[in-house]
Amino acid sequence: MYTGIYHTHKLAVILFLLVYTIKLVLLFINTDKLDNFSKKIKVPDMIISFLFLATGVYLATQSAEISTLLLVKFGLVLASIPLAIIGFKKHKKSLAVLSVILIFSVYGLAERNRGMKAKKITVSEGINTNPSDANYDELAHGKVMFISQCAMCHGSSGDQGLSGAKSLITSTMKLEEVINIITKGKNSMPKYSKSFSESEIKAISAYVMTLREVK
Ligand code: HEC
Repeated sequence: MYTGIYHTHKLAVILFLLVYTIKLVLLFINTDKLDNFSKKIKVPDMIISFLFLATGVYLATQSAEISTLLLVKFGLVLASIPLAIIGFKKHKKSLAVLSVILIFSVYGLAERNRGMKAKKITVSEGINTNPSDANYDELAHGKVMFISQCAMCHGSSGDQGLSGAKSLITSTMKLEEVINIITKGKNSMPKYSKSFSESEIKAISAYVMTLREVK
């Protein structure tokens, strides 16, 4: 369900940006063509806008935290809509440009945030993080990393499905597949290849395997 809505949202966002961009170009080159285009695309435009907003609200309710960023995104989208309606209808270029800038900045913020989710938070006080050390405890290392990096979506015991996260308790993935999904990410699961070293990913994966009901 979440994944389907996530993809619908992405598609609606792309179509929405596309329609806005075409309208803006037409506004500058030929307003008759703009009015014609707006008339033709009226129904699809309404459907796209509705899908864009409805899926956005749904994703927000599934989000691990209602952040200020999320509220800013909604505020900007809601502000841009009346600006766009007036700007394109009345051929007010400045309003139309402003609405397009607002909507693209929301897109930029969302993409930037996606990258930041995988940012490394160092929480290794008191934990030996050197695999070649004699007292290195891989599971203890994996656990602190899991709690700080993964629990916001998966929950500290692995069963909390925020942001569409799958249960790690009933997961049947093999160790290599777990390593793979942490490294490369999937849908709204961030990829960690840039933020974690190989040994860190190995430690987290080893810990993830211990969360299973049936081991
Ligand atoms: C932003 C939320 C989020 C964060 C943070 C996150 N995940 Fe995920 N995780 C997901 C989502 C969503 C899926 C489902 C992806 C799919 O199959 O569409 C998933 C799937 C998984 C799976 C596969 C489960 C299965 O059987 O299909 C594993 C393993 C996993 N995550 C481990 C981790 C680990 C380890 C971390 C921390 C390094 C982590 N995740 C951080 C959202 C998140």
